[in-house]
Amino acid sequence: MYYVSEDMVIDLVDQSSVTEAVAAVYVAMASGSGWNFPVVRERLGYADAIFGFKSGFTADGPRLGVKAGGLWPGNRALGIANHQSTILLFDCETGSPSALVRGTHLTALRTAAASAISIRHLARADARTIGILGAGGQSAFQLQAALPLRNFQTIYVADQDAALAEALAERFRSESRTVRVAGAEEMARRSDVIITVTPSYKPVIEAAWVRPGTHLACMGADTRGKQEVETELVARANVFVDDVAQACTIGECQHAVAAGIVSETDLHLIGNVVRGDHPGRGNPEAITLFDSTGVGLQDIAAANIALELARASGRAVHLD
Ligand SMILES: NC(=O)c1ccc[n+]([C@@H]2O[C@H](COP(=O)([O-])OP(=O)(O)OC[C@H]3O[C@@H](n4cnc5c(N)ncnc54)[C@H](O)[C@@H]3O)[C@@H](O)[C@H]2O)c1
Repeated sequence: MYYVSEDMVIDLVDQSSVTEAVAAVYVAMASGSGWNFPVVRERLGYADAIFGFKSGFTADGPRLGVKAGGLWPGNRALGIANHQSTILLFDCETGSPSALVRGTHLTALRTAAASAISIRHLARADARTIGILGAGGQSAFQLQAALPLRNFQTIYVADQDAALAEALAERFRSESRTVRVAGAEEMARRSDVIITVTPSYKPVIEAAWVRPGTHLACMGADTRGKQEVETELVARANVFVDDVAQACTIGECQHAVAAGIVSETDLHLIGNVVRGDHPGRGNPEAITLFDSTGVGLQDIAAANIALELARASGRAVHLD
């Protein structure tokens, strides 16, 4: 089997190849050729960490694998990313392991790919302002992938940590665009596209703050109990998901489903939009909301790209 390090991933894998691979994963899921196994995601009660497994199989390829990892909130103080993960790929003919691929950078790329795909297909064509709630490890990747998709002229950055918000804003300032640090309310009220990417356990974005025609990519809720937006907003929006079962149990939708104001049948697979079987937003005044919990097949597809590039460059380490 092979080992692919974080440095190899950082040097070799680009956002656009991961975005296209994730779009293909969504199509495979919608057409039934790929599926994800039930997610394990648990609070350890140690180091304030959440740890779990995401896995899946797709006949396209074929590909089989599992990502193990989670969020260690104290890592930033140690100078390493809060999100830590590793992906194990398997030979589909024999079940033997074929590669161990470090997944921290890949997770950021494949998560940015997810929200970018939703913006590509669901945001209004005339969207000009984008806001982000959460200026942590995922945030710069999220903005980097989203910015080319519309003619965004203003970026609003909101985070409970003012220094992190300012640092993210500074990275994206340029002559052609205004970047402002804002509170969550101002950000939500002024943004045509909103990305939420915090580990919050209570709603931050109020339904009343969000204007008609807005697209939200809700990326942060990926565990039981997490929530970034009010349930009324989920009930009011046209909701798209990567995976229905995950959205209802660990995603932003879990609270609206538990409250009985949204049901599984209200949720649309993003893969059906990508493959042209669902029209997407339809009404320009509709609020669209993409609830992404992140699926194992995303990780497997991204790890496969990293493995192929690492092998082609001669850098993949062969393990006996
Ligand atoms: N959907 C997916 O596929 C996917 C993938 C990766 C990460 N995630 C989730 O995204 C979230 C963020 O991940 P990360 O790696 O960027 O984490 P991180 O810890 O690096 O950053 C989180 C940021 O959110 C801010 N924050 C926390 N609560 C807030 C609140 N109530 N209001 C405003 N800001 C707040 C923190 O100050 C921090 O800057 C986590 O919940 C993680 O589990 C989801």
